[in-house]
Amino acid sequence: MSGNRWDDYYARQARKEKWLARSVYKLQEIDKKYKLIRKGDRLLDLGCYPGSWSQYGIRKVGPQGELVGIDLTLPDRLSSPNFRFIQGDVLTIQIEWLAREISPRDLIMSDLAPQTTGIRLTDVSRSMSLSKRAAEIACALLKEKGHFVCKVFEGEDLISFRSEISQYFRQIRVIRPKAIRKGSKEIYLVGLELVK
Ligand SMILES: C[S@@+](CC[C@H](N)C(=O)[O-])C[C@H]1O[C@@H](n2cnc3c(N)ncnc32)[C@H](O)[C@@H]1O
Repeated sequence: MSGNRWDDYYARQARKEKWLARSVYKLQEIDKKYKLIRKGDRLLDLGCYPGSWSQYGIRKVGPQGELVGIDLTLPDRLSSPNFRFIQGDVLTIQIEWLAREISPRDLIMSDLAPQTTGIRLTDVSRSMSLSKRAAEIACALLKEKGHFVCKVFEGEDLISFRSEISQYFRQIRVIRPKAIRKGSKEIYLVGLELVK
């Protein structure tokens, strides 16, 4: 598929290293910078399909750790004894139900992205609804001092979203990993150490 504009360095590298998607390199860079994932951790991956972030997380937490992924679509190429998949819509899933189903988490990561329409305002606003929902889930399910990684599209609401979540975490960082495609408006917010 060379010559395809999506077949860039990271896509080729992901195939070579057998990752399920090139987006793994975004999480890898974020994790290397903030040292978010440790052996034995319990993770929640919101918007986990096709599964590269979960793959990375499962490897880093090791057999003593555990990862739960949620998506509308089943990540059918991913299986591991310490991976559990919940098929569902994060916008409608009941947080109380989720809290009964899974134990408190060390890290909640969201790479949730809506199907884009090409209409910028619609796409940014749908993405912001997903990011806000991810933050709600994170505040309910993280352990004290747990971390949160969240994809956000740059738009009018970004500053208010950042300041909204900053009251729940000791620090908020913004990072634009190198693997983000040129021209993309996405960035990642990292909430370090949930304060309960
Ligand atoms: C960019 S992809 C995630 C890629 C993933 N991090 C990986 O590394 O393989 C975004 C995902 O968000 C999921 N998604 C979007 N809206 C959702 C919703 N309301 N509930 C659950 N998942 C959703 C999509 O189905 C899609 O699989």
